[in-house]
Amino acid sequence: MIKTAQLQRYFRSGESCVKAVDGLDIDIAAGEFIAVMGPSGSGKSTLLYVLGAMDRPTGGQISINGKRLDLMDDQECSDFRNRELGFVFQSFHLLPRMTLVRNVELPMLYAQVEAAKRHARAVMMLQAVGLGDRFDHFPAELSGGQCQRAAIARALVNSPALLLADEPTGNLDSKTGLEIIGIFQALNRQGMTIVMVTHDENMARHAGRIIRMRDGLIERIETVSKPLQAVLPAEVETSLREVRHAAC
Ligand SMILES: Nc1ncnc2c1ncn2[C@@H]1O[C@H](COP(=O)(O)OP(=O)(O)OP(=O)(O)O)[C@@H](O)[C@H]1O
Ligand SMILES: [Mg+2]
Repeated sequence: MIKTAQLQRYFRSGESCVKAVDGLDIDIAAGEFIAVMGPSGSGKSTLLYVLGAMDRPTGGQISINGKRLDLMDDQECSDFRNRELGFVFQSFHLLPRMTLVRNVELPMLYAQVEAAKRHARAVMMLQAVGLGDRFDHFPAELSGGQCQRAAIARALVNSPALLLADEPTGNLDSKTGLEIIGIFQALNRQGMTIVMVTHDENMARHAGRIIRMRDGLIERIETVSKPLQAVLPAEVETSLREVRHAAC
């Protein structure tokens, strides 16, 4: 699913050069749940953004689903992002002046899905993450956990094969964070590949492998022998499965 060879992202300004990602060889199979850990500044977000075609590598190769991202132009990158990837961020990145349902519709607007279909699918996605009664609310009217669930609904609308998350539980208390991890694990059981950056060892232990980074390099990759399981209500699991298989 994800393969990189000597992947590199340097930031140059004048004389100085920050080697944020310094020659990584990564191999992630379809259906894996990967956690990325490491100290602040070790290159986790930079790696995630390069994997997500939101930033370009300065060297090396990267292919996702057999497609070479390092050879794509900007337009191809943005089409690829919208079609094949879902993103979740620490601070949710919901647009404050739009209702939840409008926020969730956005990726489908870019993908030129027609209005009625867009709306129906957004409502269905919000119901699946337990926000069926909130779709006309604005982000400021919701708790952090509810905002993150809306952001997950938005990330899922175009049925991505790969979900990338940068500290998705970083702004949440641990109970709410575990609810988010529960949703990730359910999606992963349904075949979605997930790469999640986290500072929280307990959250990382819910993944199948942990990539530990330091100074732009991989320090080690660890297989979690018995990943922890977050509790998820059975109906959430079922509705996530249903929406995932419903055509866009
Ligand atoms: N746009 C940029 N321009 C210059 N340097 C950058 C840029 N983005 C990141 N860096 C540098 O690259 C290095 C890695 O940053 P990155 O944000 O990937 O770290 P991180 O592991 O995600 O840290 P944190 O845990 O604090 O989020 C840091 O030294 C950072 O200052
Ligand atoms: Mg970061």
